[in-house]
Amino acid sequence: MNDVTGMLDAARRALANAHAPYSRFRVGACVRAASGRLYAGANVENAAYPVSQCAEASAIGAMVAAGDREIVEVVLVTERAEPCAPCGRCRQQLAEFARASTPVHLAGPDGVRVSTTLGALLPMAFDTGAFGREPA
Ligand code: THU
Repeated sequence: MNDVTGMLDAARRALANAHAPYSRFRVGACVRAASGRLYAGANVENAAYPVSQCAEASAIGAMVAAGDREIVEVVLVTERAEPCAPCGRCRQQLAEFARASTPVHLAGPDGVRVSTTLGALLPMAFDTGAFGREPA
């Protein structure tokens, strides 16, 4: 099983547990950390709609809680054939822990449909360079 296949499996398992009763659009994400560990997450919606959390944020939260800080690959999966790109907020959240060259794979029921990079999804990303200070 290659890296992406394992990540897709983990993302699909998370998708199956998504809490998306309002949109009925279930999303699974998996990030691979530099340590090699995989962290998966699903979208978690809320009756107060704007409070909902994207799958990528769930995966990132699991990664940070486990002590990893560097994302080297990302997989996003939905149940629709058309590839679903990460929302703008998730692109920025991924950029906190990934590089412009980090691969991002967009998958559906038949597997990966599009492979791109975070830099292609988020050109001219806002980062700490903007205010000249590294994080504490
Ligand atoms: N969603 C994600 O989980 N990730 C994205 O990048 C795009 C949107 C979720 C949020 C919401 O639960 C559902 O998809 C419909 O917007």
